Amino acid sequence: MPVDVTADPLARSEAAMLAVAAYAGNGDGDAVAPVPAGGAAALGEALGIDLAAELRTVGFSGNAGEVVRIPTRGAVAASTVVVVGLGAADRLTTDGLRRAAAAVAGAAERVPSLATDLPAALPDADPADAVAAVVEGISLGSYRFGTYRSEAPVHDLETTTLHLAEVDGARDAVAVAEVAARAARYARDLVNTPPQDKRPPALAQQVAEAFAGTDVAVRILDEEALEAGGYGGILGVGRGSSEPPRLVELTYAPEGAGRHVALVGKGITFDTGGISLKPSESMETMKMDMAGAATVAAVVRAASELALPVKVTGLLALAENMPSGTATRVSDVLTMKGGKTVEVINTDAEGRLVLGDALVHVCELQPDAIVDIATLTGAAVVALGEKIGVLMASDDDLASRLLDAAKHTGEPFWQLPLATEQYGDRLEGSIADLRNSGSRAAGTIFAGLFLHEFVADGIPWAHLDIAGVAWANEAAGYQGKGATGVPVRTLVRWLQAG
Ligand code: BES
Ligand code: MN
Ligand code: ZN
Repeated sequence: MPVDVTADPLARSEAAMLAVAAYAGNGDGDAVAPVPAGGAAALGEALGIDLAAELRTVGFSGNAGEVVRIPTRGAVAASTVVVVGLGAADRLTTDGLRRAAAAVAGAAERVPSLATDLPAALPDADPADAVAAVVEGISLGSYRFGTYRSEAPVHDLETTTLHLAEVDGARDAVAVAEVAARAARYARDLVNTPPQDKRPPALAQQVAEAFAGTDVAVRILDEEALEAGGYGGILGVGRGSSEPPRLVELTYAPEGAGRHVALVGKGITFDTGGISLKPSESMETMKMDMAGAATVAAVVRAASELALPVKVTGLLALAENMPSGTATRVSDVLTMKGGKTVEVINTDAEGRLVLGDALVHVCELQPDAIVDIATLTGAAVVALGEKIGVLMASDDDLASRLLDAAKHTGEPFWQLPLATEQYGDRLEGSIADLRNSGSRAAGTIFAGLFLHEFVADGIPWAHLDIAGVAWANEAAGYQGKGATGVPVRTLVRWLQAG
């Protein structure tokens, strides 16, 4: 969806719909009336109305997400002005602006063109952040997944024009935000796809096709290559499925890259739990268990589209975790890539097995930093819920850079300790080097500690457990029900920040 930028006043726009904003009033009497934001009052004058009075008359209070349509009666080219509520002015955040932009996108479902001055509603923010929030909110708020409906839901919005006081500089922010939002939409598409259409060989192929004609090299390790390379974790998890696992390696290596970053994604295309079978309700959303891999593909795509001066290796560890006569049994021992042995206490703790192999693989490339992204533990959902992700890291600097990026994108993460000293002994197997599952307590930390065993000393590593944040059970703001695309924008921002 192309976004234009102009310094013209909104009243002169040719767009089919105009959107402005209003804050909720705070106080008694007149002070409870909504307060027009940015150029809203000026647009009202162009329409020949007192916008604040008009809003009060129609019972609009300016609460966050509230939307009202005002007819223009021929005063401007657009037939309608949409006013979106922002809540109290002193509580508005960039993510609040992102959600308001999504509400506008919802109102613009049937119009081809939209013009808005929404970034002006946050005058104290970094202008680039405000512009990015609006572009992302509109793009993500107009996302619809219609592939599997007989009548596909459509969103007709084709162009958006941002009316800004300061146009220079905004163009860059717009361009980056468009790429980041498009990448998040791509990840959402992959995660929303039903599991029958993304079994490991097919998904590997789809991802390879998505990179055809780009400067990203794609290498696919099939089951023979995995066997030859000793990838016992990936093979062990995939063994119960009639479709073999795959390891996909994406390489974006621009000339003169300053550093080399590796991203590793859990790609369980469907997680039944295997022989440690999940109850039906827990399985319902398990097509999303490849959200880490989807994130990696999307971020590499964005890095390439933005021509970021950093080398990125992306690994997608793809397997389908199924129960069958050929499946890995509980108490089987797997030999991972690199030689460590693991006793499979629970076949439902499969993510760490595919990731262990992938981490060993990527460490051999000696990157300057590794970030893995995985829908790893139900315990992460218990701890922080659906809106805050878990971060664990071996390196404080890497952790704080990621957390900082997450603050800007509205995709918050919270750090849990890599508590080797306290819980490290729980990893010990009874007949093998390691066990893949410990006690119920501190399940997320256990999983992180397990992964750490497969990271070479000296390489800064961070682990993002996105079990809670990758999927939304209900729609809110710029998030529909289903895949979220989190943490694609955060990782793009982190790469971009250098
Ligand atoms: N894919 C699940 C984790 C998950 C749960 C993701 C809920 C999203 C929502 C993972 O493979 C899993 O099953 N983990 C087990 C580990 C346990 C057996 C040690 C879990 O969390 O229950
Ligand atoms: Mn599982
Ligand atoms: Zn899983």
